Amino acid sequence: MDMMSRIAALTAECLSNTWPEAQGLPSADEIRGLLAVPPDPNMGDYAFPVFRLAKALRMAPPKIALTLCEAWKHADVARVEAVNGYMNFFLNRVNFARDTLTAVLEAGENYGSSDLGAGKTVCLDYSSINIAKRFHIGHLSTTMIGHSLKRIHDFLGYKTVGINHLGDWGTQFGKMICAYKKWGSKEEVEQGGVSEMVRLYVKFHEEAEKDPALEDEGRAWFKKIEDKDEEALSIWEWFKDVTLRDTARVYELLGVEFDSYAGESFYNDKMDVVIDELREKGLLTISDGASVVDLSEDKMPPCIILRSDGATLYATRDLAAAFYRKNVYNFDKCLYVVAYQQDLHFRQWFKVLEKMGKEWAKDCVHVSFGMISYEGQSLSTRKGYVVYLEDLLEQAQKKALDIINEKSPNLPNKEEVARQVGIGAVIYTDLSNNRIKDIDFHWDRALNFDGETAPYVQYTHARCCSVLRKTVDMNLPEADYNALADDEAQALLRLLGRFPDVIKEAAEKYEPSMITRAVTDIAQAYNKFYYEHRILDEDPAAAAARVALTRAVKDVIKRGLWLIGIEAPERM
Ligand code: ARG
Repeated sequence: MDMMSRIAALTAECLSNTWPEAQGLPSADEIRGLLAVPPDPNMGDYAFPVFRLAKALRMAPPKIALTLCEAWKHADVARVEAVNGYMNFFLNRVNFARDTLTAVLEAGENYGSSDLGAGKTVCLDYSSINIAKRFHIGHLSTTMIGHSLKRIHDFLGYKTVGINHLGDWGTQFGKMICAYKKWGSKEEVEQGGVSEMVRLYVKFHEEAEKDPALEDEGRAWFKKIEDKDEEALSIWEWFKDVTLRDTARVYELLGVEFDSYAGESFYNDKMDVVIDELREKGLLTISDGASVVDLSEDKMPPCIILRSDGATLYATRDLAAAFYRKNVYNFDKCLYVVAYQQDLHFRQWFKVLEKMGKEWAKDCVHVSFGMISYEGQSLSTRKGYVVYLEDLLEQAQKKALDIINEKSPNLPNKEEVARQVGIGAVIYTDLSNNRIKDIDFHWDRALNFDGETAPYVQYTHARCCSVLRKTVDMNLPEADYNALADDEAQALLRLLGRFPDVIKEAAEKYEPSMITRAVTDIAQAYNKFYYEHRILDEDPAAAAARVALTRAVKDVIKRGLWLIGIEAPERM
């Protein structure tokens, strides 16, 4: 339990001991929510405003605060003062430093891990790219939020299944084969990869404007794929391979992996059971020849299950995929990390699951997020302004290398560090705000070593490593925690103490940015501490305490960065 929760629990206990008869007093959890860190440390380390109790106790707040402070006793808190309806807690700073550092250093980089999720499975559907389409900056958020949520859940002891629900089915693949047969070649596709496939697709549409008969040819090719024609099937499979080969480079740069690539086509033979069940349960109605689930009661347009020509839809496949995942993985939660534009789609088919009586419908969660724009320009594939992820990551590494060449020309393995810093800068930007907010990507912001950025946090980690390198041969005595009673060290310790709760909250809210915030706060607090205090003090016992704090900061930053998918170089 972190210090704030402990104080909240003790306060709740003190309350019920003092007024055993009173009704409607806040719980420890509620008190925890009311506790604040006063801006001025002279007002204590934590403050509890008692105003909420006035009604239940029929007493003026200053009197309540005074009574509680007099009744208070616990060694963790050195002193409690009543000031105008506030209880101000002054921690026993030395104990707090010892307890916090012992907890962090005993666990090391595993500090904050838990078995909260033991025996539970979380499926995560993220990245979920479309075959034969370019991987662009618009896919960054789904990829990185999903990847981070996977690591967060892993760290909390859940079993996780990362799924890349490939967009690998639809009439467009018939058109592509048609275009390939007419204007493409094996070598060009092998060499050009996705770019060449996109070229063929664009060409198809240009030509089809002039010659509408092409559309029929395209449809015929798709029919061949559906009918498992050998040639059609093998070209389609090959398009998939080439796309995945192209995107593998990006995934490798980002350090992202998946447990499954079962995409839309995987469910071709798994939709009938769903459709049959919908029919049996009387949920399907016919509308303009299509089979739909009416959702007017729920104030949504109908969810289309079968088109009038019998073709299945995106939602049909998502329903089949949910059934499959429930059966195979028996998930406790299935997260869909998909942009907010698909809000309605998910609300619709989640509702369909509910109407089918699947109590686990509530375990399917749409984790939505906002848009990304680049250097102030919004991106749109349609208008032709796109930024490819691979290009962005290339540039990031180059720019990082330029900065490193300027700042630390003698650094060993500069290229490797440039990769870690450049890619880190991109990921950090993506995960630095509440996920639902739109993001504007700017190079000078992302790579600013003094701002709230990956390079800043990574630099702080490297600084800790450098301090620790200096102490390897020092043979320091046991730490004297009195050396950590100052405001800067205490602010830092409070942040470290809260870190395990931040991870849990980030999981509960599906919000990696809370971890980004936490590592940034810790880095800032450490740098403040670093400038105010000599770490390698003349007094070796004081130095030992500050070195212990440095080691704890290093472990927590490294783990925090890992949780959001960013590497932490030891030298920068
Ligand atoms: N491929 C889809 C797209 O790019 C995203 C798929 C999301 N996952 C899902 N199960 N619907 O829009």
